[in-house]
Order: sequence, then C-alpha cells, then structure tokens
Amino acid sequence: MTEGVPDPALVVLIGASGSGKSTWAAARYRTQEIVSSDDLRGIVGSGRHDLDASADAFRLVEQIVAARVARGLATVVDTLGLEPERRRSWLAVARAAGLPAVAVVFDTPTELCKSRNAERDRPVPAGVLTGQLKRTREVVGEVAGEGWDLVSTVSTTPAVPTALDQPGRVEQPHPTTVGDVVLQVSRFPWGEDPTGWLKDIALAADAAGFAGLALMDHLIQIPQVDRAWEPIPEPFTTLGMLAGLDTDLRLGTLCTPVTFRAAGIIAKTVATLDVLTNGRAFVGLGAGWFEREHQAFGLPFPAPKQRLADVEQAIETMRALWASGTKAYAGSRVNLPETTSYPRPVGQPQIIVGGNGERSLKIAAQLADACNLPTSAAFEQKLEIFERHRGDREVAVTVLDLPVVGHDRDDTWERVERLRGRTAAASYARQHHAATAVETRERYERLFDRGVSTVFVGLADLNDAEDVYALAPVTGRR
Ligand code: UTP
Ligand code: MG
Repeated sequence: MTEGVPDPALVVLIGASGSGKSTWAAARYRTQEIVSSDDLRGIVGSGRHDLDASADAFRLVEQIVAARVARGLATVVDTLGLEPERRRSWLAVARAAGLPAVAVVFDTPTELCKSRNAERDRPVPAGVLTGQLKRTREVVGEVAGEGWDLVSTVSTTPAVPTALDQPGRVEQPHPTTVGDVVLQVSRFPWGEDPTGWLKDIALAADAAGFAGLALMDHLIQIPQVDRAWEPIPEPFTTLGMLAGLDTDLRLGTLCTPVTFRAAGIIAKTVATLDVLTNGRAFVGLGAGWFEREHQAFGLPFPAPKQRLADVEQAIETMRALWASGTKAYAGSRVNLPETTSYPRPVGQPQIIVGGNGERSLKIAAQLADACNLPTSAAFEQKLEIFERHRGDREVAVTVLDLPVVGHDRDDTWERVERLRGRTAAASYARQHHAATAVETRERYERLFDRGVSTVFVGLADLNDAEDVYALAPVTGRR
C-alpha cells in the first residue's frame, strides 16, 4: 500500500476533527475495512453526530476490531484515537493475532483543521477542536513509546505550487531493472471453440506486453487448478498452433515432466517448436510429481531419485542433439552413437528446471539455463540454496507466481472471496499475494531487483482475453 504501511495491518488513525482521517482511509481501504465510530453512531444512534450513542458505538468498534483482526484482515480504526487506553487495547488485539500494528498520526495544521471544521454542516465547537489539536500534539510523544510496529505521520499542507508544477518541468520516470513477464496458462475454459479461445488469449498476451506464453504439461488437470475432467491439452501440439500466430511471444512449457516422453523426443519436439517460432522456444523440465496421471496413462513413475537422474540425463541428451554436427556423443550420463537430428533449433532454447527439493535446485544450478522457483514463503531460502550451488555459473532465476490480481482493492478482495474455497481469506490472500495489478507490478520489480529474470504469472481465474488485457500493468506496459 502507501507510505510503507504493511498490509494487512491494524491501522489506528490519530488526529483532530477535520484533520483528514476518514478521507485518507477512504482513499486506501475498502469500506468494510474501516471501522468508524461516526458511522457506528449513525447505526446505533440517531446520526453520525449523536454523542449520546458514543458508548454503544465504541462497544461495537471494539467488537468489530477484535473480530476482524483475529481473522488477520486489514482493519482501520477511524476514531479520534486520542485516548491511550483504547490505543493500548487495540494494540494488544493486534499483538495477539500476530498482525502488524500501525499508528497513523494526522499532523494537520491548526488553521486548516479550523477552516475545514467551519465549512462543515455540523462543526465541532471551537473549544472542543482546540482541545483535540492540543491533545494530538501530546499524543505524538505518547505513541513513540507504546510499541507500535510503525508510527506514520501524515502531514496535510495546503497545496502550494512547487517547482515540479511549473511549466517546462517533466518528471522523469523511475528507472527499474527490466525483466520479462510471461503468461502461464493452466486452465482452458474454451467452451465450444478451443482454437478461437487459445488464439484470443495469445493475441491478448502479446498485445498486453507479455514476453511469452507458457503451458502446463499434464495429462490430467491437476487438483490445484481445476477438476480432473476439465480440458488440459497436450502442450506441444497446442504451442505448435500458437507458433502460427503473428506474435513475438516466447513459447514453451512449465514444466514438462521427463517421465512423459523420452529425452530425445523432447529434444526433437522443442527443436521443432524453436524452428517454427524462429527461435522463441523454451522448455521447462521437471521430475514429475502427479502419480495419478502416470498410472492412468500407463507410464512408469519411478522413485524420486531415478526421476531426478532422468532430468539430468534429459538435459544432457537435449544439449547433445541440439549441438551442431552428427558425430557420436559420449557424455558423463549419456552415450549416443550419432547425434543426427534435423532441424536443429534456430537459437538456443532455454532449459528451465523446476522443482523445490535440494537436488532439483542443484541440477538447475549445475546443468540448466534457468532455475524456476515458486514465489511462496520459502522463496528466499530456496534461492539461497540455488545460489550456493550455482557458484559462478551463469544460470537465470525464473519464478512461477500464482497471484490474485484485481483492478482495485475491492475487486481484489471479491476475487479472494470467490477463489479461497475453505482457506481463510487472509491466508489465501497472503499465499497468493492478492493485490492490484499496479501493486503486483511493484512486487515484480522488487523480484527483478533481486536478480529474477522472468516472472511466469498464472491466474486461477483466467477466463478470457479480457482477463489477459486487464493484466497489462503487470508486464510494465503503461
Ligand atoms: P475528514 O472528514 O477526512 O476528516 O476531512 P476527519 O479527520 O475524518 O474528521 P472527523 O474526525 O471525522 O471529524 C475533513 C474535511 O477536510 C477535507 C474533506 O473533504 C472533509 O470535508 N479534506 C480532507 C480535504 O479537503 N483534503 C484532504 O486532504 C483531507
Ligand atoms: Mg472522519
């Protein structure tokens, strides 16, 4: 959010009448996230200014704050915030729930508060306002020692023209590290028109600024995404069709299990895709994990140790068959009497190894072109393991991000509510980095700064091309 305020957090507003608390909150939070004593007076009393209803309204404030904070939901307490006992109790509620507690002090000039107050339908008596302003200045000193995770000061000063407002001055955009954002497609709600749907999605991705399109490689739709009987097309056939469209998209899989196809066949398929796209192919490789699809399709599903050895062998085979010439290949894991495979790739298709275990990270670090990590809680830890194994070798870091992205905060939380199933909303939102498209882009820029070269972004609620266009801000296209 803004001003470095963590999200979710308990946010307690502190400031005199007319200092701008409610305005600040409304610009940043959803109505449901703001607990306002004035609003609650209007519900249990005759109106927002019914002071006789204050005690009842504050009992509700306490109850609502406690309930929301216990669920880990963002909560803004919109009261004057000037009473130390109330602040202490809200702080304790946040502590108990493990939610960050933030005090936001409105350091609005006295004259501004007074003039705003005078303009209101029901101004606060002048003496009362003066008392609140005096009290606010004392509270600035008190909050410092109360144990808040963050005390943020909002200084509202009347707008005065600054140098930047003057004609002829143009603000320079903030330079950021550049990385790619690739659309990962995992579900295919294509109705009666599979080809048309795929084409629309790919053209929208290209127009929205995505650098590529990645498809999952599964034989049965995986439970994390959808029901088993929903369509999950064979990815290379599908990519072959997408290769025929007029786009600049890089095309590939994330990830192809080595258990599905012999390594040489993967090499041939990816080389063909690279030729058909004039050098835009990439391939994710993994050890496979979904036993059910192997059983259903009559494929062996060896123990993890063997599958990981097969990943190493596949990489070596692919590189041997993509190298120039036809001579015999004798490597550390693979021997081939000849390496005749035409067409050879146009470029060098990137081999991205996905997988979370230490051995996968090591294989990626030592043999692959890139290592793909999920942007889950363990991201930093996995990245460190990978970096240790990588040493000086040049290997890119890519991430698979499965966020909830909304147009605004309301839309984001409606999506969380729709998608979360039985998971608590706050946990689901955290696991899926629920945020607006602009905030998601900011998170990606931090990942690029951390050394990530490509973000694969997959949406649980991608239905049509409109959903892809709505993602344009995350690609960095403005
Ligand atoms: P608020 O209604 O936001 O103040 O703004 P508040 O702190 O919540 O006041 P109380 O405690 O509920 O009484 C007061 C007036 O100032 C204007 C708002 O439009 C409103 O009329 N205002 C506020 C601005 O013009 N600019 C601002 O940046 C903030
Ligand atoms: Mg208010």
